[in-house]
Formats: sequence, structure tokens, C-alpha cells
Amino acid sequence: MTVLVLTGSARRDSYTRVLGESLVAALPGAVLAPRLTELPYFDQDLEAAAPAEVQALRAQVEQADAVVVITPEYNGTIPGLLGNAIDWLSRPYAAGALRGKPVVTVAASPGAVGGARAIVSLRTVLANAGAVLVGPPVTVDAVNERLAGDALQELLAELIAVVEQPGLAA
Ligand SMILES: Cc1cc2nc3c(=O)[nH]c(=O)nc-3n(C[C@H](O)[C@H](O)[C@H](O)COP(=O)(O)O)c2cc1C
Repeated sequence: MTVLVLTGSARRDSYTRVLGESLVAALPGAVLAPRLTELPYFDQDLEAAAPAEVQALRAQVEQADAVVVITPEYNGTIPGLLGNAIDWLSRPYAAGALRGKPVVTVAASPGAVGGARAIVSLRTVLANAGAVLVGPPVTVDAVNERLAGDALQELLAELIAVVEQPGLAA
């Protein structure tokens, strides 16, 4: 099973990026998508002849059996960077790469509620883009304390159990 992992932060030492890298290292068949900073701003005038970076991401999503999206929480929602990527992947209308794609949603924050608000936004926009939301929403509090040692192994086991649930790639 090919699993594409998308992370929603531009920050160099991003916790969500580190979590995505760790998941890819631990999950056979998982691939980390390029940083979303590679994508231009969505422009409806460009969607029919999308820039190469967008076409490459579309192809990665289309070829994946499932996608894992790991988002930070910005002002109670998802970062614009991630929203921009989802906008690209939602188009062309009714034929975007996310349509019918099984997607596992994860939010992570150094804070105490683990991106509980961001994950609601994430699931809303993904569902509107036609994705099939699978598994429970996963929120990770105090993520900065969970990226090494036993805490990381426990977190990865939790994520992998969600990704590997029967029928995900069906
Ligand atoms: C513009 C901005 C808004 C933020 N808003 C929230 C928020 O609403 N809830 C939260 O838990 N953390 C918030 N944070 C803190 C982020 O959780 C923290 O910066 C985190 O490290 C971002 O994820 P990253 O490490 O993957 O870049 C915010 C950070 C920024 C820069």
C-alpha cells in the first residue's frame, strides 16, 4: 500500500514535518510529499494548465492508495499553506485528485488541545474536496515533547494503527 504523507507547515524545524518524516520512516510504503512551499498560490486561471509542482503533487495523490495529512493549528484553523494545497487538489471541479481518496487526518500542536480546532477545519475542506475521511481524527497535544524516544514510538504506533485499518485502500 502506498501512503502519501502531507505536512502543513513551512517552518524549517516544524514539529508536524518531523512527525511526518518519522511516520514515513516507520511505515513501509509511505512517501513524504514535497514541502507545500513548493506550490504557487492557487489561481483558477491556471488550473487547466497547472504549474509543474502542482501536477507532480496531483500525480502523487492519484497514485497513492491513501493520504495522511498532518496539520498544525494556526489561529484555530489550518495554515493557509495547507489550504492552498487542498484548493489545488480539489480542482478541476468534481475531478480533483482528492476525489474518492481515503485520507487520514492528524493535527498536532505544542498546546494542550492538540489542534482540536484545526482538525475540524481540515476535515471540512477535505470532505468538500471529495476525500473519503477514514479513521478517527487524530489530535496530538504537546507534540514537541513526543518526537523522540518511547513517546514517539507510541505515537507512531497509534498513527500506523489508523492508517493500516482494514479496507483503507479498498
Ligand atoms: C500564526 C500562528 C497561529 C497559531 N495559532 C495556534 C492555535 O490556534 N492553536 C495552537 O495550538 N497553536 C497555534 N500556534 C502555535 C503552533 O502550534 C506552533 O507554532 C507549531 O509549532 C506550528 O507547527 P509546526 O511546528 O509544524 O510549524 C500558532 C502559530 C502561528 C505561527
